[in-house]
Amino acid sequence: MSTITNHLPTSELQALDAAHHLHPFSANGSLGLEGARVITRASGVYLTDSEGEKILDAMAGLWCVNIGYGRDELADVAARQMRELPYYNTFFKTTHVPAIALAAKIAELAPGDLNHVFFAAGGSEANDTNIRLVRTYWAEKGQPDKNIIISRHNAYHGSSVGSASLGGMAGMHAQGGIPIPNVHHINEPNWWAGGGDMTPEEFGVARARELEEAILELGEHRVAAFIAEPVQGAGGVIIAPDSYWPEIQRICDKYDILLIADEVICGFGRTGNWFGSETVGIRPHIMTIAKGLSSGYAPIGGSVVSDEIAEVISGTEFNHGYTYSGHPVAAAVALENLRILEEEKIVDHVRDVAAPYLKDKWEALADHPLVGEARIVGMMASIALTPDKASRAKFASEPGTIGYLCRDRCFANNLIMRHVGDRMIIAPPLVMTPEDIDEMMARIYKSLDEALAEVTEKGLMKAAA
Ligand SMILES: Cc1ncc(COP(=O)(O)O)c(C=O)c1O
Repeated sequence: MSTITNHLPTSELQALDAAHHLHPFSANGSLGLEGARVITRASGVYLTDSEGEKILDAMAGLWCVNIGYGRDELADVAARQMRELPYYNTFFKTTHVPAIALAAKIAELAPGDLNHVFFAAGGSEANDTNIRLVRTYWAEKGQPDKNIIISRHNAYHGSSVGSASLGGMAGMHAQGGIPIPNVHHINEPNWWAGGGDMTPEEFGVARARELEEAILELGEHRVAAFIAEPVQGAGGVIIAPDSYWPEIQRICDKYDILLIADEVICGFGRTGNWFGSETVGIRPHIMTIAKGLSSGYAPIGGSVVSDEIAEVISGTEFNHGYTYSGHPVAAAVALENLRILEEEKIVDHVRDVAAPYLKDKWEALADHPLVGEARIVGMMASIALTPDKASRAKFASEPGTIGYLCRDRCFANNLIMRHVGDRMIIAPPLVMTPEDIDEMMARIYKSLDEALAEVTEKGLMKAAA
């Protein structure tokens, strides 16, 4: 049996990588010169690279390997499914058992009347589906002009043209004619960066009211939906003040706006409930799912919609779909992942064991001289780096300089922790034990101490004017 194994020295792998492989979200020129780290295998919460270094993965891959690496059950299911039915589509009056079983399982797990799943290969595709779904829904209800989707600056909803348009990442919008028309952005509920003199609770309400102001400005008859992550992930693990979501729900209800919860990161246990919507107390009409659905072992995502939406769009031909919608191998892997999540009570483990254990330690990071706020919900957390806690100051250096420097210290200490500007974030595998958490925190403190020493030595511990 042939497998892809590492048979070349690291330098040769890096040279081939630089010569032929364009990396996502990377400056490929400088990456090629530096040489990408080559990951060769993984088990539990640790990765191994081509030099044999053991790296603690505090990002669960890209927020997805929720059950941890190396679960044979998923490999066995994939092999079995590939032998039985490796591929078939669900387009032309056909279906197959893995798609049926997975859709039914998701309907059982999803809150409220979210009982219908349209499959995709990931979160970006699913959010593109959502654009089509909500516009089709209102058109079928005789309101084709109700087609504007409101989102938030600094949101991340994917990287296809449609989903990047929903997202609010300035760097992405600067490339390639994004956003598409009829997408409108309001400000994010990031109190640390934007709260000024307001209390977090006042600020939460003020930011939610921006949705109401936008609806009134654009016209209720024009606004189809509001999309948001229950906790902004890629934007820096921004956890809204408690006052934010009840106000958002009130506004969506009042103006008859569909609420789309992008659960790509928050779904399947990350926040200590099955879905982030449950954690923040909202009742979405649509949920976007991906990542934790299969713990990243196979590419699969989808849109989970309410009974009413399913009924309305069923009246017309929905001219949309992907070759890999409901891919049988990915669906079988996802089902097995959900079985493990349920039978091993991993969501309970997050809520009752891992998250409470991590919370105390995480919040204590706010005492570190380089750290301002330290925020956490379930197993996703962030710290804001600052030269001056009291004034919530930004650094005088180019935004992201200190975060990048800190990220490099983590990397050197065999810890995968990501930076978003000058925030540092984690989203580790949900199966982390208290011992894993102790080890992660030790590496975080070491990295922060080293970063502080470097920042101080370089004279960068200065606040922006
Ligand atoms: C909230 C959210 N939505 C959508 C996406 C896009 O998912 P994918 O990369 O699977 O297309 C991501 C990816 O990080 C995400 O975090």
